Amino acid sequence: MALHGLSMLFAGFALFILNLLLMLMPHHAYGQNNAPAVGLCDSFVRIHGYECDEFQVTTQDGYILGLQRIPKGLNTSGDSANKPPVLLQHGILVDGACWLINAPEQNLPMILADKGFDVWIANTRGTRFSRQHTSLQPSQSEFWNWSWDELAAYDLSAVIDYVHEQTGQKLRYVGHSLGTLIALASFSEGLLVDKVQSAALFSPIAYLSHLKTALGNFVARSFVAEDIAFFGIAEFNLLGEPAKRFLETACAAPGVDCFDLLNAITGKNCCLNASAVDFFLENEPQSTSTKNFVHLAQTVRDGVVAKYNYGNSTNMIRYGASKPPIYNLSNIPQNLPLFLSYGGQDDLSDTQDVQHLLDNLQSHDVTVQFVEDFAHADFVFGVNASDIVYSQVYNFFVNHQY
Ligand SMILES: *[C@@H]1O[C@H](CO)[C@@H](O)[C@H](O)[C@H]1NC(C)=O
Ligand SMILES: *[C@@H]1O[C@H](CO)[C@@H](O)[C@H](O)[C@H]1NC(C)=O
Ligand SMILES: *[C@@H]1O[C@H](CO)[C@@H](O)[C@H](O)[C@H]1NC(C)=O
Ligand SMILES: *[C@@H]1O[C@H](CO)[C@@H](O)[C@H](O)[C@H]1NC(C)=O
Ligand SMILES: *[C@@H]1O[C@H](CO)[C@@H](O)[C@H](O)[C@H]1NC(C)=O
Ligand SMILES: *[C@@H]1O[C@H](CO)[C@@H](O)[C@H](O)[C@H]1NC(C)=O
Repeated sequence: MALHGLSMLFAGFALFILNLLLMLMPHHAYGQNNAPAVGLCDSFVRIHGYECDEFQVTTQDGYILGLQRIPKGLNTSGDSANKPPVLLQHGILVDGACWLINAPEQNLPMILADKGFDVWIANTRGTRFSRQHTSLQPSQSEFWNWSWDELAAYDLSAVIDYVHEQTGQKLRYVGHSLGTLIALASFSEGLLVDKVQSAALFSPIAYLSHLKTALGNFVARSFVAEDIAFFGIAEFNLLGEPAKRFLETACAAPGVDCFDLLNAITGKNCCLNASAVDFFLENEPQSTSTKNFVHLAQTVRDGVVAKYNYGNSTNMIRYGASKPPIYNLSNIPQNLPLFLSYGGQDDLSDTQDVQHLLDNLQSHDVTVQFVEDFAHADFVFGVNASDIVYSQVYNFFVNHQY
């Protein structure tokens, strides 16, 4: 079987995870991410003594998303009314639990709660706490008929509207990876900007042309239409049977060295605690849709940040033009304060692509932090992310209160 570019991208992510599994937890069984969802509050927050509340938010297109709130810190007083709300949005193939992998003094939600913020944690459609819909089941193809366009248009707006309504205040936003792209896309269309006070973006992803992996090149040559025909509109679950079959095929393909792919995919994370990685792997990866991957592959190949490309004739019907409309990132309101933190070792959020993004934001109010040692995952659960990055995020939020 000829492997298309997209197949390689899939296989790459899968291999990354598989290698970690093989290296770190040889005795664990697959499929834990399909275990019945005990609430995130119970599993990750209350065990550390923090108060935590579970919510469900329904998007305009019917997805029912899990949302959690840590209304106060361990030692802060009871009234959450005047605390500034902050929303944390995770990236692809993980869920809200990724923020809670490290100990309370190292993880972002609890640090912010202890500093007096009212902390909300989002969970993207398709991940373990967000697999319900008003009329569809995850077993149906139609349940997975979305890409990051819908995450920007529906998931993000549903959650931000909800928190804004509940708290009566503008939100502070923190996104990682895909959680940055969907925010940038929404803001560029003028959406949600009246409800967001400021936004911190870790490992920002917008342009992906320099994705520093051998896989990036494969993706650039991929034939998207064939890929979607091959995979169908479906759930993409790294721990499922189709992905496992892919791994076997991909590893057997000439020129693919499965072992090297571990570092080749995300970059060399400097600062992960081995026991935290173990805990991470017990909880992730989470599912996404094949269509979301196809859309990301288009972003890599086309060098623009645009809506999903359905091909000329369908684009004509959907968008009234043969090419999908771009998200013009220069149109993000200039007075919306942004904090960007990116890593020198991050192969997914490449420094040249981040520079391209920053060029689009030249006239904007942007605070930039470059962390030479950090790769993609270090921003979420690096042992010293709290000292290096979160302290700066706190300062950024405090300096942009009004
Ligand atoms: C909360 O207060 C207790 C008792 O004063 C103290 O032991 C603990 O370290 C404090 N925790 C935090 C996160 O400030
Ligand atoms: C996915 O949605 C599009 C419209 O957004 C529709 O044309 C297509 O038939 C849907 N595909 C599936 C498999 O549901
Ligand atoms: C972060 O922690 C790692 C591992 O403990 C260490 O090697 C590195 O020097 C630390 N980085 C900074 C900037 O403190
Ligand atoms: C790594 O994680 C373990 C278990 O949570 C913890 O005991 C240890 O202190 C952590 N190490 C660092 C450097 O944070
Ligand atoms: C789509 O349109 C472009 C020009 O806008 C053309 O180069 C390309 O060949 C077309 N593709 C198909 C599949 O018709
Ligand atoms: C994006 O918007 C800026 C300012 O509004 C404009 O100057 C630029 O031409 C636009 N770019 C594209 C590709 O449309």
